[in-house]
Amino acid sequence: MELIQRPRRLRGNDAVRRLCRETRMSPDSLIYPIFVDETLQGTRPIEALPGQNHYGLDSVCLAVEECLAAGVHHCILFGLPAHKDAVGSSAWAEDGVVQKAIRAIKEKYPEFYVITDVCMCEYTDHGHCGILCGHEVDNDKTLEVLAKTALSHVQAGADMVAPSDMMDGRVAAIRAILDEHGYTATPIMAYSAKYASAFYGPFRSAAGSAPSFGDRKGYQMDPHNRKEALKECALDVEEGADILMVKPALSYLDVIRECSDAYDLPMCAYSVSGEYAMIKAAAAAGLINEYRIMCESALSVFRAGANMLITYYAKELAQAIQKGDIG
Ligand code: PBG
Repeated sequence: MELIQRPRRLRGNDAVRRLCRETRMSPDSLIYPIFVDETLQGTRPIEALPGQNHYGLDSVCLAVEECLAAGVHHCILFGLPAHKDAVGSSAWAEDGVVQKAIRAIKEKYPEFYVITDVCMCEYTDHGHCGILCGHEVDNDKTLEVLAKTALSHVQAGADMVAPSDMMDGRVAAIRAILDEHGYTATPIMAYSAKYASAFYGPFRSAAGSAPSFGDRKGYQMDPHNRKEALKECALDVEEGADILMVKPALSYLDVIRECSDAYDLPMCAYSVSGEYAMIKAAAAAGLINEYRIMCESALSVFRAGANMLITYYAKELAQAIQKGDIG
């Protein structure tokens, strides 16, 4: 058989396959979500997310130590406050759960990179991502509290803020308040194309943030839409975002590809709770090889064009990368 091109030549053994990999990953591009519960001492397993824990303020440094031991140097913080009200006032309290967690981490691990999720849904008693006017979330009133919340995170020592609420104009509002207070160097990672997804189910039970009525379709994006993601990214770029994000990841690889092709900003993807829970459940049922599916799923997100990934598997992935099993 006369064949000039034989693609199999570059698949013949592990060494040549590793040489020719087109997608490279690094533990540096992984971000681990940490849930801090103000009412908790020690740690408590999160039922909806097997293998994940809630951390009390007394043990949040333990979460950091686990990350560092695995080679993960970046986290995104979520808070479960002791107190909720209609406007989510503990979101911006100087002694709020996230603010206290940041200080505790930064005191012991100043180099550990702390991103904070900026949203109201964990702090409002109705579970929506902003201030209500009747049964609607009032966009412009919400901007004020989001901006105050982001500022309080940065004042407590956060390295980066990540608004996940999907209000219009929030990046501009946050950029303005940070700049006014001299935090011109603090980056904003915008959850730009965040879809109204069923994949957030386990997170909402973990963070106690399910809406008490209705849904989030009035502010999060319709999963049918692709061009709208480009529009959301364009607006966030104009408003001063430093990093764009697509969320969820696996069902939105096309969106990750298009947005990363269209914009020069670094692109983050969030492999959300439902994606993680599905792998865990299938693995627990003996139906799949968890390790290989974890690796392949993460890899596909980078191949689609993401430069960084928020994932509950960050620690295991960092180790898989270090072993050379992926990336
Ligand atoms: C807050 C927020 C959510 C997630 C991240 N930030 C939940 C939501 O929008 O309902 C989801 C993360 C996950 O599912 O892992 N708004």
